[in-house]
Amino acid sequence: MWRLPRVLRVPAVAFGFLGAWLGILLPGLAGAAEVVVYSARHYGQEAAFEAFTKKTGIQVKVFNGNTGELFERLKSEDERTPADVLLTVDAGNLWNAARAGLLAKIDSPQLEANVPGHLRDPENRWVGLTVRARTIMYNTAKVKPSELSSYEALGDPKWQGRLCLRTSSYIYNQSLLATMIKRHGESRTEEIARGWVANKPTLINSDTKILEAIAAGQCDVGLTNHYYLARLVSKNPSFPVAPFWANQQTTGTHVNVSGAGVTAHAKNRANAIKFLEYLSSPEAQQLFADLSFEYPANPQAAVNPLVARWGKFKRDDINVAAAGELQAAAVKLADRVGYK
Ligand SMILES: [Fe+2]
Repeated sequence: MWRLPRVLRVPAVAFGFLGAWLGILLPGLAGAAEVVVYSARHYGQEAAFEAFTKKTGIQVKVFNGNTGELFERLKSEDERTPADVLLTVDAGNLWNAARAGLLAKIDSPQLEANVPGHLRDPENRWVGLTVRARTIMYNTAKVKPSELSSYEALGDPKWQGRLCLRTSSYIYNQSLLATMIKRHGESRTEEIARGWVANKPTLINSDTKILEAIAAGQCDVGLTNHYYLARLVSKNPSFPVAPFWANQQTTGTHVNVSGAGVTAHAKNRANAIKFLEYLSSPEAQQLFADLSFEYPANPQAAVNPLVARWGKFKRDDINVAAAGELQAAAVKLADRVGYK
């Protein structure tokens, strides 16, 4: 067996020990390059992660959980956290994470160039990576698009007993209400929500189940994120539900994001920034759009053809951070009007 000459053996052993200790103390430097992701996003992202590793050699380690669990974990781990990146859905969740001090500022001209300003934290602690439209869905056999116009108009008495809504305890409609408060003020938004409640909506805690209820004729209209319909239509092209782009004559359709930030105590901060920059690149954005049916945040990537068929629409371009800023107000408002 080949052996080092005796004079080199002791230093080699010493360096071996040192290397091992560095490996424990500075895993990002001494071990294989990696980025550790806490992810509360569970759909259509693996291909982009794999492409990142292929391109950079940096391994992506993912720990999945729901947003609440991952927040608690980050808080309790504090500076000992292995997480470099928090990936989650809804700007309201990203805003809450930033406010709790779980995310650090990122200074990246590339992210600023790739992602439009209204989809990013004004203080650069998180960035939107995919865009989802939350709009009106209707049964194509029972409703004509000409009967529809806006979120507000779903409070019209003609929708009495015909409306399905997600329960207000879930963040998607909290964010919608928060954005409406930003746009219309609190008293007007309260009036709108009272209109919905007066129509005795069927409350369902799942966007997919709302769409299935509309298809089954249990209700005629509802509000859901667009990609849930895309998933159902991709399995069954004759699924009898279509989107109507709400508020085209006024504020535009409500959009939200899934997105990410670099954790406050990231051990692999440089890799984490590289990772987010890659996820915002046209190449990764195309993978997201193709696999998850969301709209790319980077306008250089193309919309999935199944979704593109639904046409272009005017988006509400208010900064999505409003969903976080006014979340507490939205929850209180829902409570006041009896929207459960
Ligand atoms: Fe979702």
